[in-house]
Amino acid sequence: MNKWGKLSMGLLLAAGLLAGCGSNNNENNTAASGNTNTGTEAKTLILGTSADFPPYEFHKMVDGQDTIVGFDIEIAKDIAADMGAKLEIKDLPFDSLLNELSSGRVDMVISGLSPTPERAEAVGLSDIYYKAEQAVVVREADKDKFATMDSLKGIKLGVQTGSIQEDIAKGIEGAQLTSLGKISEIVLQLQSNRVEAAIMEGPVAKSFVKNVKGLAITDAKPEVEDDGYVIGVKKDNTELLDQVNKTLTRLNSEGKIDEYVAAASELAESK
Ligand code: ARG
Repeated sequence: MNKWGKLSMGLLLAAGLLAGCGSNNNENNTAASGNTNTGTEAKTLILGTSADFPPYEFHKMVDGQDTIVGFDIEIAKDIAADMGAKLEIKDLPFDSLLNELSSGRVDMVISGLSPTPERAEAVGLSDIYYKAEQAVVVREADKDKFATMDSLKGIKLGVQTGSIQEDIAKGIEGAQLTSLGKISEIVLQLQSNRVEAAIMEGPVAKSFVKNVKGLAITDAKPEVEDDGYVIGVKKDNTELLDQVNKTLTRLNSEGKIDEYVAAASELAESK
């Protein structure tokens, strides 16, 4: 065997050893990476979400580790699994998510995102995967005082920056808005008397009212044009959009989404 023959033989051996290591590693890491592929490298699907939103997406200690959980996250895991991809989660401010999508820093957004004409213009939106109503959260003592939408006129209102709730609040005559990055910050404002009421998604309101003392949901019902949630992908990424819709159809037909919502709500309420 000549010099080149020996060299390539050596390289082949080394490659074989490396490949062997690789597959062992993969086996050990399947739980963490969800990737059982050996040989070909798995794709990574990057999810952008604002994990301040129980039971949709929130932080929870799981086995001593700060983990992002919630029913949106379960859906994301299914989409990644159906694609044979590894899921990576980026926790970002809600009002930055669609920009991150357009610039390609994340592949999809699942974040309790409501469809609006402006968003449909800017990014690709999936079919609706879940529906919920809006709610008004106040300090317990004010529950009856703010029982109608009319009663919110002229008061101090807390909402999340860049959300449809911010638009709802802007439509309330004389309302003074405090727009903040995280729902938990809005709840703090409410507790410390800096706002009178907050508008948020019904399931999120329920979760905070259960976990935080002294808050209540009133009978006021903010109206929105579309009360469903969608998944965002980069504009014209029809391949991913088709995959997302396929997984949503599967999950719906298997009754999985309701299951995920129930489990995530329970998790959000547990200590
Ligand atoms: N549904 C509202 C919207 O799309 C609020 C969503 C906020 N989501 C979150 N993860 N904080 O504007």
